[in-house]
Amino acid sequence: KQSVKLIAGNWKMNGLCASLTEAEALRAELEKGPATCRVVLCPPATLIDRMGVALRGSSVEVGGQDCRAERCGAYTGDISADMLKDAGAAWVIVGHSERRQGYGETDAVVAAKATAALEAGLAPIVCVGETLAEREAGRAVEVVRGQVLNSLPLAAGGREFAVAYEPVWAIGTGLTPTLEQIEEVHRAVRAAMIERLGLAAATAPILYGGSVKPDNARDILAVPEVGGALVGGASLKAADFLTIVRAA
Ligand code: G3H
Repeated sequence: KQSVKLIAGNWKMNGLCASLTEAEALRAELEKGPATCRVVLCPPATLIDRMGVALRGSSVEVGGQDCRAERCGAYTGDISADMLKDAGAAWVIVGHSERRQGYGETDAVVAAKATAALEAGLAPIVCVGETLAEREAGRAVEVVRGQVLNSLPLAAGGREFAVAYEPVWAIGTGLTPTLEQIEEVHRAVRAAMIERLGLAAATAPILYGGSVKPDNARDILAVPEVGGALVGGASLKAADFLTIVRAA
C-alpha cells in the first residue's frame, strides 16, 4: 500500500559552495543507477540556487530548511516560501525541533509556515517528535499526536506534503528508538493525519529522522508506515547519503 519512499537530506547550517561537489557526486552516482525512491536535498538557503544547477538533469529535488509564514515584509534575516520557490526549491522543512526548541516555534507557527509553503507551491515536510523527558514519562505517542493534529494545516489535504517523526533525543546523538517504538509512533502519526485531514492523508509519506545512518537505514526503512527518512549528518557526504538512498 505504501508508495515510493522519500529520502530527504537536511544539511542544516553546513555547507559552502565547495560542498556542492557532494551534490555533484550524488548526481554522478545516480546517473549510473537511478534511485528507486524520491530524493530531496535541503542545503542552506544560500546554496539552493546553485544546488539546483549542480543537480540539473538528475531527479533529485531541492528544498529549504525553514520559511516564514508571511510572504514579504520587514522581517530582517528571514526568508519566505515564495523566495525559496523562486530560488528553485520544491520542498521546505517546517517545525524542525531545532526551530521549535531554539526559536520557540509553536504548533500554530508551524502550521502557518506549512500553509505558506503550500500557497507558494512548495511541499512542506512537517516535523514532530518528543523529547527524552516526554519519552521517559511514557508520553511520546500523546505528544506526537498533538503535534500532528495542531501543526498540519487543513490546506494540506489533497496536496503533496510529508510528516517527519524525529525524536529530539535521537537527533545527532547516534541513538535511535527500537524498530517497535518507531512503528508505534508512525502508526499514531498516520492515525492523527487521517483524523486531521481525512483519507486524503492516507498516503502522504511519514519519514523517520534521528541518527539514520548507512548501517541502520535498511532496517528502519523496512518498518511498516516508515515512508522514508529525514537524514541530517549522514546526508553531508554523498557516499553515506547514497547508501541510504539505495536502502530505500
Ligand atoms: O533533519 C534531520 C534530523 O534532525 C536528523 O539529524 O541524522 O544528524 O540525527 P541526524
